[in-house]
Amino acid sequence: MTTPLRILPERLVENLECARYRYAVTMQNIPHYYTLESSWDDCEDGVSAEFRWTVTEMRKHEVIRSFGSREQHYLDVNGFSYWTMGGPTLPVAEAGLINRQYSTHGAYDSPFDSIAHRYDDSEKPWWKVQAEREALYAPAAPSGRVLDVGCGTGLLADYCYRKIDREQYVGIDPSAGMLAKFALKHPDYKADATLLRTTFEDYETPLRFDTIVAMAGSGSHVTGVDIIEKAWHLLAPGGRAYLTFYRDPAVAFERMGIEAPMLAATPEGAVGDGEYDVLEFTRGGD
Ligand SMILES: C[S@@+](CC[C@H](N)C(=O)[O-])C[C@H]1O[C@@H](n2cnc3c(N)ncnc32)[C@H](O)[C@@H]1O
Repeated sequence: MTTPLRILPERLVENLECARYRYAVTMQNIPHYYTLESSWDDCEDGVSAEFRWTVTEMRKHEVIRSFGSREQHYLDVNGFSYWTMGGPTLPVAEAGLINRQYSTHGAYDSPFDSIAHRYDDSEKPWWKVQAEREALYAPAAPSGRVLDVGCGTGLLADYCYRKIDREQYVGIDPSAGMLAKFALKHPDYKADATLLRTTFEDYETPLRFDTIVAMAGSGSHVTGVDIIEKAWHLLAPGGRAYLTFYRDPAVAFERMGIEAPMLAATPEGAVGDGEYDVLEFTRGGD
């Protein structure tokens, strides 16, 4: 069954991201941060209208997960899970603070962490697959503002280095290990580009992209959200998506709750480093 695309109000995302957080030093076993209502810019006499609006909006979009023996309501955005104390029944006026921790649910417990250090050479040393990788990455043709979904260790940046404007590049990936390897290989990206530890599912931004790619099968990892609908939503008019899936992509589309679209075969000359089916589309001007 298709899940409706979650689109959070930009004001909510901005408020959550731009708030001032402190580390909760008294709860080292659950590393997390909190923002107090009293620290919000518009707070007067202990009341911040913006904070209370944010808590009210959070409650409209939260999901429930277990926390020990009880249930906790969370809002997952851009690699962080946010929650308030007391749950949704507590009056907003009594919430007082919003907590956040680096997301650890589902896809964030990444199996890629443990192989990140050898990922670039995992099947064969990189120099043996260089030609195949050139053939695989060239058709991605990143241009303008680029979103690299499941950017991993940055192979797109390796092979399309001259085509990418780092200042307009956003790489997202839930694996801290893969992102760390990316940053090690490309300190220049670390400085100028946006590398975010988040899943595609949890990613929310006011930016609209000229190119959205998911390379070397990253598309197959997206679950519970229609990758086509979300990519369409994040494309600028005239923007192009180039999404790749592992062979047997029907399984991935089933997990997304949608019918598998027509896909193209692995680009010619690229099969040495793995086989990936390709979905390419352009967002018409609107
Ligand atoms: C096979 S690797 C491909 C990495 C990179 N695109 C490349 O060309 O080498 C798949 C990547 O997808 C990432 N991934 C897993 N689940 C994801 C999700 N839900 N959203 C975005 N990326 C995800 C993994 O952490 C991993 O880095």
